[in-house]
Amino acid sequence: MSVPILRLYPAPQEEVALEGAYLQLGLHKQGSPENPLIYSNYIASLDGRISVKDEETGEFKVPDAIANKRDWRLYQELAAQCDVMITSARYFRQLAKGQAQDLLPVGKEKAYADLLEFRRREGLSDQPAIIILSRSLDIPLKALDKVSDRDIYVLTTSAADEGKVAQLTQHGVQCIRADGEDITGHALKAMLTQLGFGSAYMIAGPEVHAMLLEAGVLDRLFLTTHHSLIGGNQFHTIFSGKLEQAGRMNLVSLYYDGTLNAGQIFAQYTYCE
Ligand SMILES: NC(=O)c1ccc[n+]([C@@H]2O[C@H](COP(=O)([O-])OP(=O)(O)OC[C@H]3O[C@@H](n4cnc5c(N)ncnc54)[C@H](OP(=O)(O)O)[C@@H]3O)[C@@H](O)[C@H]2O)c1
Repeated sequence: MSVPILRLYPAPQEEVALEGAYLQLGLHKQGSPENPLIYSNYIASLDGRISVKDEETGEFKVPDAIANKRDWRLYQELAAQCDVMITSARYFRQLAKGQAQDLLPVGKEKAYADLLEFRRREGLSDQPAIIILSRSLDIPLKALDKVSDRDIYVLTTSAADEGKVAQLTQHGVQCIRADGEDITGHALKAMLTQLGFGSAYMIAGPEVHAMLLEAGVLDRLFLTTHHSLIGGNQFHTIFSGKLEQAGRMNLVSLYYDGTLNAGQIFAQYTYCE
């Protein structure tokens, strides 16, 4: 076990192990295929950056100053509890270029062996399935091969290119077209139900997050705030869309991790009705 974290909320304050802090939530039991639980997770700097433009590659990536192993442990714990992970085609494009932050969990390293064991014990498949959102269907096949140990689905629009759909299908990927001009949060939720998934971990960026929030189908937000200021003008925050009225959140839990130079807090929120 590593250095504990301090639970600040709910009271009373108490030191708890980092390992297990999110695993004990039992997220996989809180939803069902009829009403799947959808949760997102981000790490941000104090000034709200979840990604910044890398001057060398021209790509956006999670700032090195905030990415850290203790947050990554919780990221893995959230993955351990889902039936499916929802990601974007951008992740696979970065993976193909060797620029992705890491391979999708659950990690096969020794540090995460307990999580693989947890999945088996709980009757979950060894690895969560993957749903990739894409309009372009520009998804490098060689990157998909890196996660060939799991079921892969692509959710795309009715306008998607036939040839690309055929190529992905030949590669063992199930492509599903959403009705209408664009994919909505409702279409994504309907797809989860159709495929029998009860818990879904959304790890894409601000556009997919906005799509879920606009439809009101996101149940839980996990947000790590790393106590760093990053600055710069080219960056992403957790949300890029428009809401008719401000989305309001209830705090469910808050932990302080003082082990890093600057420290970080781990917050969990639900959405107010
Ligand atoms: N710090 C963190 O915790 C964290 C977490 C997640 C992501 N990030 C960072 O945030 C940045 C942006 O991530 P992202 O590109 O995954 O974010 P995103 O803005 O959510 O997703 C962008 C891509 O997803 C597809 N997409 C989005 N909405 C869609 C819709 N309604 N229908 C169909 N396809 C849709 C599109 O793929 P096509 O272009 O193929 O059509 C689009 O290019 C990256 O640098 C990433 O590393 C940081």
